Amino acid sequence: MKKSAKTPAETAIETRYVLAPHMVNALGTAFGGVIMSWIDVVAAMVAQRHCEGTVVTASVDTMSFLDPIYIGDHVILKASVNYVGRTSLEVGVTVNKENPINGRQNPTTTAYLTFVHLDNDGQPTDVPKLLLETEEDKRRHENARARVQARKELRKKIRK
Ligand SMILES: CC(C)(COP(=O)(O)OP(=O)(O)OC[C@H]1O[C@@H](n2cnc3c(N)ncnc32)[C@H](O)[C@@H]1OP(=O)(O)O)[C@@H](O)C(=O)NCCC(=O)NCCS
Repeated sequence: MKKSAKTPAETAIETRYVLAPHMVNALGTAFGGVIMSWIDVVAAMVAQRHCEGTVVTASVDTMSFLDPIYIGDHVILKASVNYVGRTSLEVGVTVNKENPINGRQNPTTTAYLTFVHLDNDGQPTDVPKLLLETEEDKRRHENARARVQARKELRKKIRK
């Protein structure tokens, strides 16, 4: 059965966690690995929803942590598909922290993850098309296209 083309909005996810005491480093701020794990899980769910099947994480671009997250802060993750290739797709994730007392939000991280859609034999298989609906969809898609190209060139150079 042919899988349907989808807009980014159809598979986007927004979720939130609260930073608990066992998730912090010696400074009492979020341990980076916890945030990275949440990013991977949320992005993978978006990729699965788009592909209607199995995906694996192929790569994660450089991640910068802009602002420390403290115990009790809410951590809001928003993820959506930016770009679809033949068998791979890029999902963008933005992470904001929210002070639950005053509701103030600050950006903390942005990440771009590439997933590959696998068939039942574990081989890369075609990803459903992405329908670009809004100006924001188109902007994200254009930026992602530049990153996809840059990643391909880098992989080619490294192999030599
Ligand atoms: C991801 C994986 C399936 C790619 O296999 P591969 O043999 O390199 O596949 P291909 O060369 O056919 O490339 C498939 C697609 O992935 C893309 N790709 C492969 N490696 C990539 C990387 N490191 N970063 C970004 N994209 C990548 C290719 O550009 C291609 O995209 P396209 O079809 O949209 O043009 C394989 O490397 C793998 O199984 N890695 C381990 C995954 C894993 O264990 N993840 C963590 C747990 S989920």
